[in-house]
Amino acid sequence: MLEPLTQIGRDAATGGYVRDAWSPADMELREWFAGEAARRGLDLREDRNGNLWAWWGDPSRRPGVVTGSHLDSVRQGGAYDGPLGVVSAFAALDLLRERAGLRPGERGGVPGRPLGVVCFTDEEGARFGVPCMGSRLLTGAIRPERALALTDDDGDTLADVLARAGRRPESIGRDDETLAGVGAFVELHVEQGRGLADHGRPVGVAAAIWPHGRWRFDFRGRADHAGTTRLADRDDPMLPFARMVLAARAAAERRGVVATVGKVRVSPGNANAVPGHVAAWLDARGAAEDDVRALVAELAEGHEVSEESWTPVVGFDPALRDRLARVAGGGGTPAPVLPTGAGHDAGILAAAGVPAGMLFVRNPTGVSHSPEEHAEQADCEAGVVALADVLEDLCR
Ligand code: GLV
Ligand code: MN
Ligand code: MN
Repeated sequence: MLEPLTQIGRDAATGGYVRDAWSPADMELREWFAGEAARRGLDLREDRNGNLWAWWGDPSRRPGVVTGSHLDSVRQGGAYDGPLGVVSAFAALDLLRERAGLRPGERGGVPGRPLGVVCFTDEEGARFGVPCMGSRLLTGAIRPERALALTDDDGDTLADVLARAGRRPESIGRDDETLAGVGAFVELHVEQGRGLADHGRPVGVAAAIWPHGRWRFDFRGRADHAGTTRLADRDDPMLPFARMVLAARAAAERRGVVATVGKVRVSPGNANAVPGHVAAWLDARGAAEDDVRALVAELAEGHEVSEESWTPVVGFDPALRDRLARVAGGGGTPAPVLPTGAGHDAGILAAAGVPAGMLFVRNPTGVSHSPEEHAEQADCEAGVVALADVLEDLCR
C-alpha cells in the first residue's frame, strides 16, 4: 500500500518528498485517500478545515475510535513520516474485517463503535509555517483569521490557496460536530529517534511530546556592493544572524534542550552584494517548557522576533497509554513507552481533551525528516497488527 505513494511528490534527484499542503502532490495524495476509502465502502467526509475522514459506521450516533496521521511532508522528507500512519490505519481496518470474517470491500457489521481513518491536513507546516494546522483549526487551537492570513513563499495567503483549491476559507475554524465524533484517537507513526532500536522492539507507545515552537528572527541591514563598500561602512545583517545561530547552539547545550535554525531567507540574495535582510527560523524544544522559553528569551534579546507557533508539553493520558502498551505488547512484555521531541496531531487532540495515544514503529537509524528515514517491512507489519489489536480493544 505504501508503494503507490512513493511516486507522489518525489524529487527524483534526491529521493526526498516535497508534499506541501494544497500543492498538486497533496491533491493527488488526497485523491489516493478518497480511493482507498471508496474501495472499502467507507463514508468519506472532508471537514471544514480540509481534514479527510473515512468512516466505517456513523460517528453521529456514537463517538468513534479514530486512527490515522497525515500525508503532507517536510521539504525533502522521507516516505514514512505521516503516510505510514495512514496506510497502517487502512491496513489495520482490513485486518479487523478479516478477523470478523468479512471479504475485502464488504461493509458488514460495524464493530462495537464506529471506526474512522483520518488524514489531517498540513501537519508539517512546511508551507505556511504553523505545524498541525488541520488539527489546530479543528480544535480551535489557532484563530481562523490568523491562519487565513499566513503566507507561503510566494506571498499567497492560506485564504487564497484554499479558495483556489475550491474550499471555503470563511468556513474554517473549530468544528465541534466533527470533534464530537472522535471518542478516542490513536496515531501510528514511524519513530523519529532510536529508542525502539535500543530496546530491540518493533513497536512502542508515546509517553509525552516535548513542548516546542518556532520563532522568526528578522535581521535588517543595508544592501550594498560587495567590492566597493568598506567593512567599516557596512550594515550587514548576516553577522548578527550568524551570531544568533552560534548562540542558539551554545545556549541549547547549556540548558539541555535542542535548538535548530533550518530555514533562512537572505534578500536580495546576490553573491556580490551585502544582504539587506535575513529572515531565519528557530525551532526550539526540550523536556521542560521553562528551559525552552528561557533559551528563546536569551536569543531574542535585542532582536526583532515573532513567535509563529507554540505547543505546550503533552502528556498522553496515562491509563490509555498503559492500555496501549499492554495491548501492543501482544500479551507479552508491554511495549516500551517513549517520550518524543516530534510534534503530532495526536498531541493537539490530547491537549483539546480527546483521549489520544500513539504507537511508534522502529526506525533502525532514527533518522527522520530526511530521505534516509526508514522502517523495515516486518516492523511495519508488526505495527499494523498492534494497531488492529489496539483498535479492537478500544472498540469494545
Ligand atoms: C513534526 O514532525 C515536527 O515535529 O516538527
Ligand atoms: Mn514530521
Ligand atoms: Mn508526522
